[in-house]
Amino acid sequence: MDIAVVGSNMVDLITYTNTMPKAGETLEAPDFALGCGGKGANQAVAAAKLGAKVMMVSKVGEDLFAENTVKNLQQFGVDTRHVTVAPDTSSGVAPIFVDDQSQNRILIIKGANAKLAPADIDAAAEALKGCRLIVLQLEIPLPTVYHTIDFARQHGIQVILNPAPAVADLAIDYVSQCDFFMPNETELEILTGLPVSSEEEVLSAGRMLLARGLKNLIITLGSRGAVWMQGDNVHRINASPVKAVDTSGAGDAFIGCFAHFLIQHGDIPRAMASASAYAACSVTGRGTQRSYPDADTFHRFLTA
Ligand code: RIB
Repeated sequence: MDIAVVGSNMVDLITYTNTMPKAGETLEAPDFALGCGGKGANQAVAAAKLGAKVMMVSKVGEDLFAENTVKNLQQFGVDTRHVTVAPDTSSGVAPIFVDDQSQNRILIIKGANAKLAPADIDAAAEALKGCRLIVLQLEIPLPTVYHTIDFARQHGIQVILNPAPAVADLAIDYVSQCDFFMPNETELEILTGLPVSSEEEVLSAGRMLLARGLKNLIITLGSRGAVWMQGDNVHRINASPVKAVDTSGAGDAFIGCFAHFLIQHGDIPRAMASASAYAACSVTGRGTQRSYPDADTFHRFLTA
């Protein structure tokens, strides 16, 4: 197996609207879509669509969403042998609101994701040992994230940690053991408590994290591209100019694609450039996983 994603799955309930109702008010929204999401599942599906061999360790609820979530992952070739059911629990759901500037606002109800425990990592240990890279986010309990990092270190497996959604009390001791730490600018602001409104501020906040022992910090900046910081070195890549219709899940598209190409050739700037183009392609379509191109579609996007 190339990649293991230890993380969340959610059912995305996407409402397209510019106006949010006030308390007590009912408003009609122009459009709605139901989709498979969750940062973990999105990253797994992005990598799998590009051809990576991917497994997931994840929890679904005991409800009507669960079967569809597992089938969806399997449809893209993701190994779901370690996607288990949390009894008497709902699956994770994410109401998402997308405005006509293509910007999204997301609420998450973790449901079964909150029950993914260190014991689930131990139960998947034999399969995880055969992976080259483990990808983590923060929609599952922090003790499970830390346990997975310990496991990866013991077995010499590379780790990407995407600190999303950001929590201010993330233990830096664990973060600094990861090979790649990949926040977006909002997450960087929450993690450091520093402003990130200009490029110089982003780099200062990044330097603060690096000073605490991080190896590779990759900050995604949406339509402004991404920056890789390692020691005193800064490598910047621009985003491909596209007309965005829905930016939901674009960060996950970046990470899933980056993970795939990191495993393929290990060239970090090249993997970032591919990931940036992949995320740009994803924002031209609606939804999260649904908007991720497969390898052929991505190739056509790159050569258009
Ligand atoms: O990053 C986008 C994802 O965040 C959505 O798919 C939603 O499920 C939440 O997890």
